[in-house]
Amino acid sequence: MQRLIPTLRRDHVEEGLISVINTLQICAKEISFRLHQGELAGVLGSTLDENIQGETQKKLDVLANQLLKDILLENSHIRAVASEEEEGIVDGHTTGDYLVAFDPLDGSSNIDINSMVGTIFSVLPAPKDDRQGVDLFLQPGTNQLMAGYVLYGPSTMLVFTTGNGVRVFTLDQKVGEFLLTDEDLEIPADTCEFAINMSNYRHWQPQMRAYIDDLLAGDTGPRCKNFNMRWIAAMVADVHRVLCRGGLFTYPWDCRMPNKPYKLRLMYEGNPMAWLVEQAGGVAHTGEQRILDIEPTDIHQRIGVILGSANEVNTCLEYLQGSQSATTDV
Ligand code: F6P
Repeated sequence: MQRLIPTLRRDHVEEGLISVINTLQICAKEISFRLHQGELAGVLGSTLDENIQGETQKKLDVLANQLLKDILLENSHIRAVASEEEEGIVDGHTTGDYLVAFDPLDGSSNIDINSMVGTIFSVLPAPKDDRQGVDLFLQPGTNQLMAGYVLYGPSTMLVFTTGNGVRVFTLDQKVGEFLLTDEDLEIPADTCEFAINMSNYRHWQPQMRAYIDDLLAGDTGPRCKNFNMRWIAAMVADVHRVLCRGGLFTYPWDCRMPNKPYKLRLMYEGNPMAWLVEQAGGVAHTGEQRILDIEPTDIHQRIGVILGSANEVNTCLEYLQGSQSATTDV
């Protein structure tokens, strides 16, 4: 089985970027080790703090964030990093060619129940003009040079794209190396599976409720087929399932918080996952536009996300745009 670095060289990935992914896989092994030690490592449970998003921080969130920051910033190719857990960006090397945005531990409410979590990353080019600070990162997802995630599940997997398909590596715990286990993931265009937090039903737009109602109506409704639902509550794990066997994943607009109607973050979740999904033949949309085309205005910006099997995402978009008749009054 192929190792990571030879696969990247075979794919003609530039050496600087190879160095960045090499650093990321070192971080992944460190985080994976601590997660697999679980209670034995004394890192489960919450801290007394909240992160920049107002969420309670888990000890492992803080640890993973610190590990990624410390190890990435030692790499001279990295100009700056942005983390979901940090208010501002953290400067690295002024001559570095790359910026790395990351969510250190996505789905961290799963940590205490020994369920799946992951690290999501997005690598952007460092602008060569006089931009500084947060402005460096305000680039659309189409600029990404590399994007992916590490899934800490029964096995630890590194999944990423450099724009040439989606590669999957599995950590061989015996030798401590990531080995290529899937060359080119492809999402089937049709699916019978969807992922959404159903408890938010009453907060969605009527069009989204109508779409979900028709999925739930199964073969007796207008879709004429039965759908199954899955929700792991960790985007990284739900998107991994979509990449492996298809499906639709959404965290849509939500009217609970008028000033903050979306949950998922563009830079740390939306953009990297959107690029992976598109590279695997799927569609990734906010409901209003292609995620990768968004011109960010803030590094912690939140967006609506609908992604996965192309035909199903397009059907959902037809409901949202009002061109699909629904069984429910909208
Ligand atoms: O953004 C954090 C996150 O944990 C995602 O990974 C996940 O998809 C979502 O929030 C879970 O949300 P909820 O708590 O509504 O199930």
